Amino acid sequence: MVSDLLTVDYKKDFPLLAATDVAYLDNSATSQRPTCVIEAERDFYLKHNANPLRGLYQLAMEATDAYENARIAVQKFINAKSEQEIIFTRNTTESLNLVAYSYALSVLQPGDEIVTTIMEHHSNMLPWRMAAAKTGAVVKYIDCDAEGYISDAALAEAITAKTKIVAMAQVGNVLGRLNPVEKAIELAHAVGAVVVVDAAQSAPHMPVDVQKLDADFVAFSGHKMFGPMGIGVLYGKKKLLNKMPPYCYGGEMITWVSRDTQEYAPLPHKFEAGTVNAAGAVGLHAAIDYMNSIGFEVMEAREAALTKLCFEGMQKLEGINIIGSQKWEEHKGIITFTIDGVHPHDIAAIMDADGVNIRAGNHCAQPLLDHLHCGATARASLAFYNTEADVQKFLTCLGSIRERMGYGR
Ligand SMILES: Cc1ncc(COP(=O)(O)O)c(C=O)c1O
Repeated sequence: MVSDLLTVDYKKDFPLLAATDVAYLDNSATSQRPTCVIEAERDFYLKHNANPLRGLYQLAMEATDAYENARIAVQKFINAKSEQEIIFTRNTTESLNLVAYSYALSVLQPGDEIVTTIMEHHSNMLPWRMAAAKTGAVVKYIDCDAEGYISDAALAEAITAKTKIVAMAQVGNVLGRLNPVEKAIELAHAVGAVVVVDAAQSAPHMPVDVQKLDADFVAFSGHKMFGPMGIGVLYGKKKLLNKMPPYCYGGEMITWVSRDTQEYAPLPHKFEAGTVNAAGAVGLHAAIDYMNSIGFEVMEAREAALTKLCFEGMQKLEGINIIGSQKWEEHKGIITFTIDGVHPHDIAAIMDADGVNIRAGNHCAQPLLDHLHCGATARASLAFYNTEADVQKFLTCLGSIRERMGYGR
């Protein structure tokens, strides 16, 4: 029963949500953070703050331990073989740029192909275009259909002997559909290509097991999974990361430097130049512990129940167009839509006036919206802490917008 599943009040763990009755439905842009994450960051600065990986005194060693323990928590969270495969970055965008600058620029030759999809966030598109422009490689897009579906046949046609990199979101940030990354990985590996998985919208909502997937690189952001802003993750297979040149140069990424030469630090520090975001990593560790304490089974079931409620409620309203699949099961908490005759910015402004936060615009995915011929859209995105009341508030407001904009009078 939907109601049974949704009776637990998780909002009490999130001080911003507990202090307001606003329905926060912009979780794909960034999630809210529970008290334990905010406290973990605060605790780091209050009790353990020193520059990690540098000092030899007690406090610096505490800071180093806190930072490296966070890495182990991430390793376990995504089931990586070794903590050396976990690189801390600022966010998904930086993780993808790291692969593009370091891996792509060193392997691509003129005529090589990078295969990606038309539904990618700009962060998983522009780095590959940069790499292609600098090397003479070509970016090839796989189109999805109007339902956001990418077929095995489309993957098989796009991935060829010329393919060197396949870059693909596991869950798209506009259509919210689970993409066939397993098939892409199988086909890419058969031709010797590597696969970069953008897990920004999947890691917060479902288990991502990098060994099971056999992904070569996986990128995600802490701030979308209840952790702090400014901390992100790049997972890479050790054999690939070991061969890759550094992406950023400076302190902490070397073992020694002489006047003319240097030796780079072993993994993962080769890719973490300069003072690291230790408090952010500690906060991410707390977010992972928090998610583990609830469990993906519960989180996914709640999100599915809320998605169904929201989707079916929207389908009953006149003049609402849901973009992508018309089945709620094919939306992982993300529902993008338009209202006939109403600009999405007006939708978001009216929603805001009624205490509902949603996103409006192009969602950093302009090529997808062009492909679907739909221009700007509005997007509601759910997290496990949302409630039936949030969804009802959204639906009530949604149902009133056309009339408030003067239609049907
Ligand atoms: C699928 C996807 N990829 C990449 C990003 C970029 O994430 P960040 O801004 O945290 O780097 C986002 C952000 O919305 C996203 O949804």
